Amino acid sequence: LQRIQRIFVFYLAALVPVTTAHLGGPVTFTCVLPKTETGRRDIHWYKQSLGDTLKIIWTLKESVTPRFAPEFDNSRWEADYDKNVSNLTILRTNQEDEGIYHCGFTEWLQDTTWTGTYLLVKGNNVISFHAILRCYKCTL
Ligand SMILES: *[C@@H]1O[C@H](CO)[C@@H](O)[C@H](O)[C@H]1NC(C)=O
Ligand SMILES: *[C@@H]1O[C@H](CO)[C@@H](O)[C@H](O)[C@H]1NC(C)=O
Repeated sequence: LQRIQRIFVFYLAALVPVTTAHLGGPVTFTCVLPKTETGRRDIHWYKQSLGDTLKIIWTLKESVTPRFAPEFDNSRWEADYDKNVSNLTILRTNQEDEGIYHCGFTEWLQDTTWTGTYLLVKGNNVISFHAILRCYKCTL
């Protein structure tokens, strides 16, 4: 698994940057926001797991209180923003948090700008491949 994961991450690194977190530890993703003319803007954070669709995590919409989607509305997640950046923080990372995190920025009446990073969670729960690659009908 480690090797396959490494190859996968290596392959992926060509497409999006990789952020590493330690299992149980915190991680913060920072999205640098373009300068706006109007100051009217939407910010979205999305998560994409392997083989899964995009899930909305957090939304900031003009004149509406920023909010988390129900699935992420708990004490593990925090989001913050100012004029220049938006931060998404996972306070205690677990293995299921691995995936691509996308930040989407939309200025009023403009196209959305996307940035993303792959979150790699490093833990000590190394699953061995030996159980799967057992030798049967072997002639040694
Ligand atoms: C975003 O995160 C960076 C790095 O952790 C920090 O320096 C900055 O103050 C944060 N900004 C906001 C708006 O949360
Ligand atoms: C945003 O960045 C500009 C420079 O690019 C700086 O002058 C300003 O203080 C920053 N604003 C915040 C809230 O950090």
